[in-house]
Amino acid sequence: EIKAIIFDLDGVITDTAEYHYLAWKQLADDLGIPFDRIFNERLKGVSRMDSLQMILDHGGIVLAEEEIEALAHKKNEHYKTFIGKITPDDLLPGILPFLTQVRAAGIPTALASASKNARPVIRQLRIESYLDTVVDAASVERGKPDPEIFLKAAQQLNVNPEQCVGIEDAEAGVKSIKTAGMFAVGVGTKTAMAEADWIIDHPSQLTLEALKSHYK
Ligand code: BG6
Ligand code: MG
Repeated sequence: EIKAIIFDLDGVITDTAEYHYLAWKQLADDLGIPFDRIFNERLKGVSRMDSLQMILDHGGIVLAEEEIEALAHKKNEHYKTFIGKITPDDLLPGILPFLTQVRAAGIPTALASASKNARPVIRQLRIESYLDTVVDAASVERGKPDPEIFLKAAQQLNVNPEQCVGIEDAEAGVKSIKTAGMFAVGVGTKTAMAEADWIIDHPSQLTLEALKSHYK
């Protein structure tokens, strides 16, 4: 029986995964580092500093700590210009009906996001009341793919991880859910989401009925 549902934010609830991509793309272009959507898949779910390090390594660029900090800041400034305009209209289709069904069924919910921008985003989306707890980048020591973030969410909801469902669009995120011992729903391609227990192309396919029929 499903005792809790833990949501990733970027790319599951709203299309901020696209904004992260665009912000990184802009930074990589400025640095002359090749950057495409395939490489970007590896950055999904990964913290800001770790993502930047992966991009710099990819370009064979070595920089001093201060320069790295400045670039991370610059990327976040690009990102903030995108998210500044977020409204409830930016919820991905199907998410609000799903959150409503989950609430009606009395199933506890959590957000497990690697983003330091998670709180302003959920506030702007006006979905705070649908989430019982929020675990973000500031509350964990180890980012995805480490299971800490999903385990912490389960602990805060007082639910056994084996009875939790995690929903992710990132390879690192699916790994985090599986290592936590949870059932993983992967939103994305069969290749990227290979380790998930149930793969869907789009959040609009999320209904409680469909989830229950795949859950084991
Ligand atoms: C994750 C995104 O949710 O948050 C990553 O999938 C992003 O792409 C990470 O790098 C960190 O986000 P932020 O907002 O703290 O830079
Ligand atoms: Mg995501």
